[in-house]
Amino acid sequence: MKVSIVGTGYVGLVTGVCLAEKGHQVTCVDVDQAKVDSINSGIPPIYERGLEDLLKKHIGGLLRATTDLARAVQETDLSLIAVGTPFNGREIDLTFIKAVSREIGHALRNKPGYHAVIVKSTVVPGTTDGVVRPILEEASGKKAGIDFGVGMNPEFLTEGEAISDFMSPDRIVLGGIDKATIDQQASLYEGFPGVEVLRTNNKTAEMIKYTSNAVLATLISFSNEIANLCASINDVDVVDVMRGVHTSRYLSVDMPDGKRVQPSIVSFLAAGCGFGGSCFPKDVKALVAHGESMATPMRLLDSVLKVNEKQPAKIVQMLRKHFPSLRGVRVAILGLAFRPDTNDMRESPAIPIVGELLGEGAVLTSYDPAAMEEAAKVFKGQPIVFCRGLEEAIKDVDAIVLVTRWDQFRKLPGLLKGQRVQPLVIDGRRLIERSSIARYEGIGV
Ligand SMILES: NC(=O)c1ccc[n+]([C@@H]2O[C@H](COP(=O)([O-])OP(=O)(O)OC[C@H]3O[C@@H](n4cnc5c(N)ncnc54)[C@H](O)[C@@H]3O)[C@@H](O)[C@H]2O)c1
Repeated sequence: MKVSIVGTGYVGLVTGVCLAEKGHQVTCVDVDQAKVDSINSGIPPIYERGLEDLLKKHIGGLLRATTDLARAVQETDLSLIAVGTPFNGREIDLTFIKAVSREIGHALRNKPGYHAVIVKSTVVPGTTDGVVRPILEEASGKKAGIDFGVGMNPEFLTEGEAISDFMSPDRIVLGGIDKATIDQQASLYEGFPGVEVLRTNNKTAEMIKYTSNAVLATLISFSNEIANLCASINDVDVVDVMRGVHTSRYLSVDMPDGKRVQPSIVSFLAAGCGFGGSCFPKDVKALVAHGESMATPMRLLDSVLKVNEKQPAKIVQMLRKHFPSLRGVRVAILGLAFRPDTNDMRESPAIPIVGELLGEGAVLTSYDPAAMEEAAKVFKGQPIVFCRGLEEAIKDVDAIVLVTRWDQFRKLPGLLKGQRVQPLVIDGRRLIERSSIARYEGIGV
């Protein structure tokens, strides 16, 4: 199938390379000429495991990038909209969605034949039918359901695991105004046999996406609230508490061979310094705001956000227990991205932690295996040293703060062993065995 993807960020580019891998002819469209040039020369503008190999394999063949949206629409049968939908403090900002809908509508004006326009961006229920569809109809002078289809196909990929998530999806949700739109989308996903496909209307598809993120964010804040209480009770460690909780038969499945298997949702029942990224905070805020606008206050989700906003400050509080003044205290920040295996810094808990520590006069070094370039942009002009490796970052520091769950940080105990002066280690992700560190503090203990 010939498909155009409008907006070539995380979602657009991953979708593009993966659909090319499945044999579709893909045109990625973006307004950012530098991004388009980079993609066409086989260099991914983002870090994502496996992305570069797939991009190099297909660029110039089944995959190309362009800034020419009108032509891309003319030459394809289906367009996916994958532009950003940031939260502006009151609601999701639909500026990009509206602009792209208008441009696609204009392109459809002169296009003979049927075309499906599918929203892949995360948008609140009612947006595809109530905002995208009328703009498309007005700009094209055509009628949805007759001349073109309008659908909603939410994306569930997790950054850091985006390629494998896309290539082996747990579900495919196809929303649409009619059967023709959904059938057109179904052809796009023919190469994913055995995957559960949900056919539904656009509003339900939109709601599935928000609900999926909201439930995971809720588990994280729940765990953090429990962790904070554990920390104030003597001799209770949230890791032990959660181990006891995880073994509940509701959270561990007894297999016929007698083995117990834990579904991955259990990994969200763990304490840390808070969730971040481009989705959870934005999507939960958007859902709370949407509830407000529908006179249905989302009290639980409002609390989920409040718990999360306060969680990074726990790290600084733990440091203060050991250093009454942080002025001149040398601190290494390990991990800057919001999660491992990505360079995405959006809403990373590292941002408020670094901000607060610099504000208190701490002297900071930092290291992240993938996000150093992004971090240099985020912390531009701020006195934080970006190191080339873990060893360099922790050299001669008074304290180490572990912010991101990168696997390679597990070697910290080995690196510190034998050092004459042991730094304090603040484990913001409960990644390291407590007893392997001389001076240990962690969330929830
Ligand atoms: N990042 C994720 O993990 C993830 C996962 C699931 C869903 N989503 C949702 O997918 C959507 C996209 O997210 P993202 O992280 O890929 O965003 P992003 O900011 O990385 O990418 C958006 C891209 O759209 C481009 N763009 C903006 N206006 C355009 C226009 N008029 N024409 C063409 N291109 C234009 C931008 O230049 C940018 O490259 C959002 O709604 C997000 O909530 C994201």
